[in-house]
Amino acid sequence: MNPDKKMAINIGGIEFESPLFIASGVWPMDSAEWPDGAMNGVGGFCTKGLTLRSKRGNPGIRVWETPCGLMNSIGLQNPGIKAFLKQEYKQLKKAGKPVIFNLSFETEKELLLLLGYIMDAAGNVPVELNVSCPNVSKGGLSWAQDVNALERVVSLARRNWKGLLWVKLSPNVSSFTETALAAEKSGADAVVVANTWLGTAIDVSRLEPVFDNIHAGLSGPAVFPLALRLVWETYSAVKIPVIASGGVCTWQNAASMIAAGASAVQVGSALFFDLLAPAKLYEGLSSLLEKRNIGSVADLTGIAHERRRETNKEDLRHG
Ligand SMILES: Cc1cc2nc3c(=O)[nH]c(=O)nc-3n(C[C@H](O)[C@H](O)[C@H](O)COP(=O)(O)O)c2cc1C
Repeated sequence: MNPDKKMAINIGGIEFESPLFIASGVWPMDSAEWPDGAMNGVGGFCTKGLTLRSKRGNPGIRVWETPCGLMNSIGLQNPGIKAFLKQEYKQLKKAGKPVIFNLSFETEKELLLLLGYIMDAAGNVPVELNVSCPNVSKGGLSWAQDVNALERVVSLARRNWKGLLWVKLSPNVSSFTETALAAEKSGADAVVVANTWLGTAIDVSRLEPVFDNIHAGLSGPAVFPLALRLVWETYSAVKIPVIASGGVCTWQNAASMIAAGASAVQVGSALFFDLLAPAKLYEGLSSLLEKRNIGSVADLTGIAHERRRETNKEDLRHG
C-alpha cells in the first residue's frame, strides 16, 4: 500500500504518513497474531501503558462487554520499562512504524526514571503521558484531577524530554477544557482526547460488582459522541493539535473526529473485532478527501467549525 501524500500529518514538527494511530493497550504485542496488512494505514503505534517496574495487573475480571461498549480494568499489566525496551520494543520496531511510548507513573521521580531509560535505549522518541493514572502524593487521585499537579508533571516532562510530548487526558474530571489548557501551557505538543470513561457494572447473577475495583473504564462505540464533544470543545480552546480517542470504529467516525478538530485519530476497541480496522479507515478517509476535493487531512481538520460559522453568518444575513 503506497502512502497517499494527502493523508500525511504533522504534529509538533514530526511528520506521520497517516492520521490513524493504534491506541494504547489494545494491540497484541506478539507479531505472530498480526494479520497480513495489519500495518497498512497506520501512522504510528502507541505502546501499552508502561511503568517503571513490572505490573501483574488487577485481580478478578478485567474485561466486560456492555451494549455497544467495553469496560476494562487491566491494571496496567506490563513487563516494566527495562524488559519492554529489551524485548517487545525490538519486535514493534520491525513493523516499521513510529512507536509512541505510553507512560504511567505514580510519582514525578518515576516519570524521570522512565524518561531516562527510554532516552538511553531509544533516543528522543515520541511519548504519551497517561495522566489518568494515580498520583501517589495526592492519595491516589489521578494527575488529571488536580490541575496544579498536572501542570507540574507536564512541565517536568517538557524540561526533560526533547522528543514529541503528547498528554493523554482523562474525561473523568470536572472541567476537561481546563486540563487541556493546563497541558498546553506546560509544554505539551499535543493533547489526546481522551482516555476511557469511568463506569460501573453489577453482575446480576451474583448481585455483586463485576470488577474488584468496582469502577472500570468504558470504551468503544458507546463513548463516541461523548469523545466527539470533547474534541470539538478542546479544538476551540487550545492551539496545539488534538488527537482523538474514543469509540472510533468506522471511517465516518474518524472523519467526524477530524472535522470536529482532530489532527489525528487513535483506534482502540475497534481492534478487538478487526485488526485491519486502521487500513479500512485509511481507505475511507482517503476517498472522502478525493470525492469532496479536499486537499489534505490537515484541510479537513476543524472544517465543521468553519462550516458552522459560515452557516451562522448566512442566518444573520437572512435575518
Ligand atoms: C483493554 C484496554 C487497555 C487499555 N490500556 C491503556 C493503557 O495502558 N494506557 C492508556 O493510556 N490507555 C489505555 N486504554 C485506553 C485506550 O487507549 C483508548 O484511549 C480508549 O479505549 C478509548 O478509545 P476506544 O473507544 O477506541 O477504545 C486501554 C483501553 C482498553 C480497552
